[in-house]
Amino acid sequence: MYRIKSQIDKTSQTYLANKVAYTEMMATLHARTSSVINRETEKSVLKHKERGKLLARERIDLLVDQNTPFLELSTLGAFGKYENQFPSAGIITGIGVIQGKETIIIANDATVKGGTYIKETIRKHVRAQEIAMENHLPCVYMVDSGGAFLPDQANVFPDRFDFGRFFYNQARMSAAGIPQISIVMGSCTAGGAYVPAMSDETIIVKEQGTIFIGGPPLVKAATGEEVTAEELGGADVHTSISGVADHFAEDDRHAISICRNIFETIENKEKQKIDVIPVEEPYYDPKELYGIAPVDLKKAVDAREIIARIVDGSRFQEFKARYAPTIITGFAHIMGFPVGIIANNGVLFSETSLKGAHFIELCTSRKIPIIFLQNITGFIVGKEYERKGIARDGAKLVHAVANANVPKFTVVIGGSFGAGNYAMAGRAYDPRLLFMWPNAKISVMGGEQASDVLIQVKRDQLKARGKEMPQDDIDKLKKSILDKYEHEGSAYYSTARMWDDGIIDPVDTRKVLAMGIAMSLCKKWEETKYGIFRM
Ligand code: COA
Repeated sequence: MYRIKSQIDKTSQTYLANKVAYTEMMATLHARTSSVINRETEKSVLKHKERGKLLARERIDLLVDQNTPFLELSTLGAFGKYENQFPSAGIITGIGVIQGKETIIIANDATVKGGTYIKETIRKHVRAQEIAMENHLPCVYMVDSGGAFLPDQANVFPDRFDFGRFFYNQARMSAAGIPQISIVMGSCTAGGAYVPAMSDETIIVKEQGTIFIGGPPLVKAATGEEVTAEELGGADVHTSISGVADHFAEDDRHAISICRNIFETIENKEKQKIDVIPVEEPYYDPKELYGIAPVDLKKAVDAREIIARIVDGSRFQEFKARYAPTIITGFAHIMGFPVGIIANNGVLFSETSLKGAHFIELCTSRKIPIIFLQNITGFIVGKEYERKGIARDGAKLVHAVANANVPKFTVVIGGSFGAGNYAMAGRAYDPRLLFMWPNAKISVMGGEQASDVLIQVKRDQLKARGKEMPQDDIDKLKKSILDKYEHEGSAYYSTARMWDDGIIDPVDTRKVLAMGIAMSLCKKWEETKYGIFRM
């Protein structure tokens, strides 16, 4: 494959100014991430440690194989919500390697409101299970939770993807041969009791783990019986009397080592075959992405410059390089894995959509994962394009993206606006993982366009009544919409609500994608079958 020839001038004002702005963005990302991870001085953390318990992330560190990475998901879940009282939404989820097997790990953080579940905690838990199901990854639940955060019950209990979904997913995964292992390291109350109870195998920590359908206060209120938590559902009771748990652990470390031993007995399933070649670092330094990544979305950035800093050896076999230049398509390798890349290089036109759809057919027939690099304002608008059938051709690309059954991974590297989001494998198109860069923005359209549309609608309404919209009202409406879109379009707003799987440092993009591809090999890929392409 040929090496991309970068045209970037690293001494240019544009590059240097971009780098300064991006460095500030990275400082914000690091500060925000650190604020949810490093909380050693908080009262609840001190209390947790005094009890001899390890913190959720320390538990995960011990669980995964040494010197292997843990890909944490949605670290900034619930960020900026609930006065930041739920760091990481009170739960740590991610993909780690245990005894050589890619595994989904779901660990409650008991230092956050007793590990109880708000809406975002539920979403993180269910999302992690979805990833496990889609990729056939075993699940380890490190349980330490008071169950539902009771004031938020309406948002956590009744709906299809709420609390009850955890146990449904566990039953379905167990039936599909996806191992479900629980380590009870603290409370498992009420519905939470079903996490270990629905697992294939369960470990519980002495004088620390408890499992009960109703805790001591509830039992007292309901029946008048007075009982301690330990007598009601401690490790001794459940491993010697009830049999609800299978293994008795002396402490957190012991419990984790039992879990690792269990993993020695889990079968190694046959993986999806893919032709892997030796890893080559990019020829162009990925750190240069700070000088290139689109900070100002109004300025065009050649997607090849981004690709050159993500793929092995900066080598890229471009497909249809001379045709429909607003989408870049081609093959490359990431950490030795073959990938097809689709990256925006401007607005989507009819021919762009056809080129994208054609390339997706190549990837699905050759069984190559697809990476979508989103930086898209949307489809072209206007009389000429509607008459040429932009909606019909755009639909072909959306159809191909939706039905492509090779693993898809999406990174929003710039803007993600309107139907461009759909055509480029936005969240609704089930990419296996979706990440944002800190500069990324996502909304139904840009703030400017949305305010112009709304002002036009208002003007038309008033005009019909023979009135005009005063300039002052126009300015006010414009400002309020611009402010709203700026706030709601930010990567932080998105990640707080689990519209993505996390915000990543652009430099880490290739590592994160490689982990995603490795995980996707744990289940054989299904054949792709397309429906009707409207011609
Ligand atoms: N809903 C809402 N808030 C809860 C809660 C719940 N189910 N369980 C605990 N909290 C809050 C506490 O009010 C406290 O908040 P604060 O820090 O603002 O004061 C915080 O979580 C920590 O609780 P605390 O009891 O001090 O911590 P602990 O580590 O000693 O005990 C539990 C944690 C979870 C064992 C204990 O709080 C408990 O048993 N909670 C009730 C669990 C329950 O019955 N759940 C039913 C779910 S259906």
